[in-house]
Amino acid sequence: MPSPAQTDAVPPGPVRYAREGRIGVITVDHPPVNAIGHGVRSGLVTALETGLADGGADALLLVCAGRTFLAGADIREFGKPFPPPTLPDVVACFDAATKPVIAAIHGTALGGGLEVALACHVRVALRSAKLGLPEVKLGLLPGAGGTQRLPRLIGPAKALDLMLAGDPVGAEEALALGLVDAVEDDASPLEAGLRAAGRLLDGGRVPQPVSARIDRIAGSDPALFAARRADLAKRQPHLFSPHRIVDAVEAAATLAFADGTARERDLFLACLESPQRAGLIHAFFAERQVAKVPGLPPGTPTRDIRRVGVVGAGTMGSGIAMSFANSGIPAVLVDSTQEGLDRGLAAIRRNYESSVRKGRLSATQMEERMASIHPTLSYADLADADLVVEAAFESMEIKQTVFRRLDGICKPGAILATNTSTLDVDAIAAATGRPQDVLGMHFFSPANVMRLLEVVRGAKTSDSVLATAMALARRIGKVGVAVGVCDGFVGNRILHQRGLEAMALVEEGASPEQVDRVLTGFGFPLGHFSMTDLAGIDVGWRIREERRKAGDPEAQATDWLDILAERGRHGQKTLAGVYRYEPGSRSPIADPAVAAVIEEDRRRRGIMPRPVSNEEIRDRCLYVMVNEAAKILEEGIAARAVDIDAIWLHGYGFPSWRGGLLFWADREGLGRIAAAVQRYHRDIGGPRWSPSALLLQCVAEKRPIAC
Ligand code: CAA
Repeated sequence: MPSPAQTDAVPPGPVRYAREGRIGVITVDHPPVNAIGHGVRSGLVTALETGLADGGADALLLVCAGRTFLAGADIREFGKPFPPPTLPDVVACFDAATKPVIAAIHGTALGGGLEVALACHVRVALRSAKLGLPEVKLGLLPGAGGTQRLPRLIGPAKALDLMLAGDPVGAEEALALGLVDAVEDDASPLEAGLRAAGRLLDGGRVPQPVSARIDRIAGSDPALFAARRADLAKRQPHLFSPHRIVDAVEAAATLAFADGTARERDLFLACLESPQRAGLIHAFFAERQVAKVPGLPPGTPTRDIRRVGVVGAGTMGSGIAMSFANSGIPAVLVDSTQEGLDRGLAAIRRNYESSVRKGRLSATQMEERMASIHPTLSYADLADADLVVEAAFESMEIKQTVFRRLDGICKPGAILATNTSTLDVDAIAAATGRPQDVLGMHFFSPANVMRLLEVVRGAKTSDSVLATAMALARRIGKVGVAVGVCDGFVGNRILHQRGLEAMALVEEGASPEQVDRVLTGFGFPLGHFSMTDLAGIDVGWRIREERRKAGDPEAQATDWLDILAERGRHGQKTLAGVYRYEPGSRSPIADPAVAAVIEEDRRRRGIMPRPVSNEEIRDRCLYVMVNEAAKILEEGIAARAVDIDAIWLHGYGFPSWRGGLLFWADREGLGRIAAAVQRYHRDIGGPRWSPSALLLQCVAEKRPIAC
């Protein structure tokens, strides 16, 4: 079908108007995602007015060029003044249109984009399209009538489900919900839209504007809102905007449309002002910014990765193999013993079976994924892998032996990656004759679930190898962050400092439960000691043993955690660690036996316990992290503050509504943090409290550390 000829009436811009027979076509063309910035908003109003005034147009069609329908308001504009027309103004114009308006949706209709479509008379979607109101993920609510129109279209309960989760639904589900009127198989939204418009003009009934419908909201049960509020208070006690969404939908169900819309506006503005909105939007852009590695020019050639190898079928290796299988990349999984291989494969199968039981995966998909993992005892099967990830035991000797072997077997140009979390990637690379092809790919446990991937660039890693690993991270749904070589890289290095401080606080008089309560109160999903139990106390104990042997001044003394490890209290897996656990439960229960071990340890060291305030715990646990993060920046191990923010957001559950560690630090006040660091350096001492020069410099220059 030819594209419609453009009229002279509308000046060139991101929105154009043209006529196709009896249909006036409004096309938004604003790459990359047709975000509704000011130009698009005023273009939409002008094009709509042009179409309404065009005597030859009996109906109007809204379509988008490029890869997607309108993907929402332009997020970059939030926090700045909105020059008119605002999005609610645009939506009101569509709602009041005197000719039928059809929206033809392809790609993703999200947020304000879907709100514009909701103000059209008819919505038709391509089968591949996705529709959603993800504002909650940005600390907002749908502020252009979405909270008022969606319940009128699909009922308040389903509307709340969609808006509180923020996840998009596919076109089929949207049709079943009543969110769209038709689903089309056409490749082109223009064709689908013109066809729908034709049907409407050929005698179809023009539906009422959504704003005028009341059948789905009449007689809404007030108990629905009370139940949602109670659920949110339990599941998301920290978050601001979900509660406002419930308020807005309740307004839709109880007030006239105009009054409900006014209430929505007030609630939207309250969300917009909330610091959570700023934090969540920082987190949104951080995820995208880390993909652009400073010094790695866009367009750096990448290598083709069609088949990978994973060495080691333990917990990490199995999870890594699953990450590839889940993205359609076949993986050869090598282990040194049949028993290890069987155990790994059984764990993978159990994991997939649980997904099938939960309805997240079909039995066929499970079998396809299992079949794409090829178990073997023979390294020779790695000969044609394009990339191999080594996930063997954390020992330099073992890793160097594995890499020597891989170097001899793998084809030229194959990338060799180590999943080490603490060892020197350059020393591992030196065991091969191809250090330019070696780097670290540090997955986080469980590797098939956690989104973070630290991509560790060695001294000799080539640009193309780094670019390939970053692209691969994205392909397998991870957030890849490029980091340099040091002990613990970025994430674990900061975690280690927090761990030392949490231990010091308990020695001085806090209980592990108190420390954990303060951290979960801050917004972490797990406290430090619950996390230790989850990871396994024996794991940390082994690392501490290594550090003690290496003469680390902060790891010399045996502490109460070592005593627990030596007594077989290894954490959740043994139902006893810092806490105790009932069989089959992950809920930590404070254990007087542990309190006694701590007490005994204090006595042995001659420490007189004192009451420690929650504020002191919060400040010491968080400020020590900020100080270490600043040192990491100083040393160039992370190139930008945003890299550290993304690592803690995606690998350690730093609360996304706080934006990220360093974004939060700026809001907390660098001056306050630096003063406290200097005070703790004097009073507590130890390398972890030696103030970062960068932190002090930012304070002296009165500039933020993040942005
Ligand atoms: N505003 C501004 N920029 C946006 C944007 C938006 N709404 N959505 C995406 N972008 C930018 C990204 O930052 C990225 O920019 P760079 O290339 O410079 O990094 C570029 O567009 C491409 O984005 P992705 O890399 O994410 O591309 P993708 O194809 O993987 O995903 C997408 C596309 C599904 C649309 C995804 O970008 C997305 O989910 N965007 C956010 C959508 C959203 O939240 N919309 C609601 C906005 S709030 C709203 O509308 C409020 C209201 O009611 C008033």
